[in-house]
Amino acid sequence: MALITLSRFLIEEERHKQFICADLRFLVEIVSRACKAISIAIGKGNLAGVLGGAGTDNVQGEAQKKLDVISNEILLEANEWGGHLAAMTSEEMEDPHLIPHRYPKGEYLLVFDPLDGSSNIDVNISVGTIFSVLRCPEGVPVDSDNVFLQPGTQQVCAGFAVYGPTTLLVLTFGDGVHCFTLDREFGHFVLTQEHIRIPEDTREFAINMSNARFWEAPVKRYIDELLAGKDGPRGKDFNMRWVASMVADVFRILTRGGVFLYPLDSKMKDKGGKLRLMYEANPMAMIVEQAGGVATTGRQRILDIQPTSLHQRVPVILGSRNEVERVAGYHRD
Ligand code: AHG
Ligand code: MN
Ligand code: MN
Repeated sequence: MALITLSRFLIEEERHKQFICADLRFLVEIVSRACKAISIAIGKGNLAGVLGGAGTDNVQGEAQKKLDVISNEILLEANEWGGHLAAMTSEEMEDPHLIPHRYPKGEYLLVFDPLDGSSNIDVNISVGTIFSVLRCPEGVPVDSDNVFLQPGTQQVCAGFAVYGPTTLLVLTFGDGVHCFTLDREFGHFVLTQEHIRIPEDTREFAINMSNARFWEAPVKRYIDELLAGKDGPRGKDFNMRWVASMVADVFRILTRGGVFLYPLDSKMKDKGGKLRLMYEANPMAMIVEQAGGVATTGRQRILDIQPTSLHQRVPVILGSRNEVERVAGYHRD
């Protein structure tokens, strides 16, 4: 059977399912090309002098890595000239990036975390890019943050790349989740998994245990029960994994199931959580739901949250249906 490249997959989605239009197809092609460029920059590492800190802080007060800045630039430059976007916003920039006047404007908005897991970059552990596509609402000035403040249910596409042993691109247009692998010799992404489904049950969990003393009671209860294993109320042993790159943890969950938690804790209560709603939680929640999983803050479905600001943070609990529903149940108790 002929290999299905990303380009062919997108054309067929447009032609047969009328699921996407030419502009959205073009947008995803451009984002995938930017991800290839980021993957190449990351792959060069110290040979190209791209590792280490940039010496600057982002709007969130986090120290930026050189590759945070490089990846952000690659995505901005790739996406501003094509005429498919009205504006972009990034975890690494305080304000949205408007399309320069010399280029035509389109009907879509692009939202991204250019480099997820960047604390791992200098130690050669997988990192990634997360993105989300929204429609630009009519009647709202495009230079206001408000155009972006739409609940995750409004996303028309969400995806992420993982720069790991292989470079992967995971995509959804609201009709299942598909994974493409970068063929480095030919330079294109090839469809390698279609209609990924997350197993409903799991024996694997992902959480940063060093925050245990700051967690709220429902999360403490849940993790205590998992740690008690065979002798506890769950009657079976659980395994733990924490890559500290959400892209890698979520890809593992798409592949073999699991539950991922970055819950609210007392040391970041005023911030609302660690992960960012627009750049991380919403795209990942859409992908996880499209693969049959669940994504919640513990108290609310992530995709239903009405954002109030661009860089808003939320608690995130997602993955295998039965485990995530159990954690949500503990929050209701
Ligand atoms: P980013 O590198 O974009 O700031 O995101 C890092 C995120 C996420 O990828 C990961 O799950 C989490 O932060 C790790 O946090 P800890 O270092 O607190 O474990
Ligand atoms: Mn991130
Ligand atoms: Mn990031």
